Amino acid sequence: MNFKSMYQEKLISIPEAAEMVQSGQRLVSAMCASEPVGMLNELERHAERLEDVHVWMCLPMRPYGFYTQPEMEGSFFLENWFYGAMDRKMHKLGMVSYVPNNLHRAGSDRIHAGGIDVFWGTATPPNDHGIMSLSTSLVYERQLIDEADIVILEINENLPWTLGDTQVHITEADYIVENTQPLVELPAIEPTEVENAIGAYIADLIADGSTIQLGIGGIPNAIAQSLFEKRDLGVHTEMFTDGMVDLFEAGVITGREKTLWPNKLVGTFALGTQKLYEFIHNNIAVEFQQGKVTNDPYIIAQNNKMVSINTALQVDVLGQVCSQSIGARHFSGTGGQLDTHRGAQMSPGGRGIIALRSTVKNDTISTIVPHLSPGAEVTVPSQDVDTVVTEYGVAELRGRNVKERAEALIRIAHPDFRAWLKEEVEKLGIVMKIQAPGVDL
Ligand code: COA
Repeated sequence: MNFKSMYQEKLISIPEAAEMVQSGQRLVSAMCASEPVGMLNELERHAERLEDVHVWMCLPMRPYGFYTQPEMEGSFFLENWFYGAMDRKMHKLGMVSYVPNNLHRAGSDRIHAGGIDVFWGTATPPNDHGIMSLSTSLVYERQLIDEADIVILEINENLPWTLGDTQVHITEADYIVENTQPLVELPAIEPTEVENAIGAYIADLIADGSTIQLGIGGIPNAIAQSLFEKRDLGVHTEMFTDGMVDLFEAGVITGREKTLWPNKLVGTFALGTQKLYEFIHNNIAVEFQQGKVTNDPYIIAQNNKMVSINTALQVDVLGQVCSQSIGARHFSGTGGQLDTHRGAQMSPGGRGIIALRSTVKNDTISTIVPHLSPGAEVTVPSQDVDTVVTEYGVAELRGRNVKERAEALIRIAHPDFRAWLKEEVEKLGIVMKIQAPGVDL
């Protein structure tokens, strides 16, 4: 088979690719650095002939016109597995809705709820055997390529060639478009003093030889920086980050003691700087697997000493964790937080950690609260919560009663809010009498 001529036969222009979309269809786009930017930008130009096209995305990286312009209403609707800054703004226009999900089931739940018609993704240019790499994301992409009636892949020469379950053959794409451009980057941010304090507490909870997962947000960056004294850490994560590259290059991450995929950093998508994209390119130490694999709690649990570290917006004294909304205002998503928090606790010697600053908005709001704000979405229920860390210490909640949980959380709340927390908790009758010896109440 001559794959070069097959490539040429499948090659169409970006407007022709958008022309394939029909009214009423369900279109799924690949995510983050694997977004097909050319086709997504083109979509708005087809609004006049299209009605009720539903587009599924996860953490859109750019303000695509098809859902950010009011005149697109009726033509397109964005179904969003994870909100970013743009989606929070656009929510008010009424053309986007969050899809509750545990990330390892995003693809399966879509199939369950009706499937898809069109898949738009990206891939590297094919090799001599007609094989391409799906590159920076396998969260649901591989699964939905198998499901779609029409698969169109946008070839970007800048995409890293990643290894694992990333291969897709030219025969699996119905059409190909070309669009080489720089990958979206998530800049690494210098951790604050508070984040470094949280990182130091967490470093004490991670034994040498542990396998770690780091979530999304500012705090996980700081945690990576507090792990340079560790030895033989492994990675089994949802998201590959720049911090992991630094730890690998410093010889801290070796994966030697991993009980599942030893010696490999395992994950399902990468979002970071060019340094990360260069690191994952053709790197035999980096294993991409589908989200339904990496984030399956039973698979995560096959790593001994698995420690998951994620961030939250609010934790109440029952241990209910909200990481995805500020009150009723939807903020981000569950992503893999519950998947990884559960999987880590099922792992021999494992631990699920939720890390958050004790206050926000210049110390005017406590993130430790008597009860979640009205409308808040629970990300980790009280039944599943394990360890919560702030810059004031560590609260071990797993297996503890509500009184013990409330007292442990008040101990790690900001000192200015501890008396208020005690008073509210007792007034509401959540716990009749709070005792936290040695803590100023
Ligand atoms: N009340 C009011 N506002 C709050 C708040 C609270 N309890 N907690 C945070 N905020 C505000 C912050 O002040 C900040 O606003 P600002 O930028 O105007 O100051 C904003 O909300 C974001 O908070 P921040 O803590 O900086 O967010 P982050 O970028 O570090 O992300 C999460 C934290 C929790 C949103 C993010 O980790 C997430 O979405 N997690 C869920 C998914 C997940 O963990 N997946 C894991 C696998 S990748």
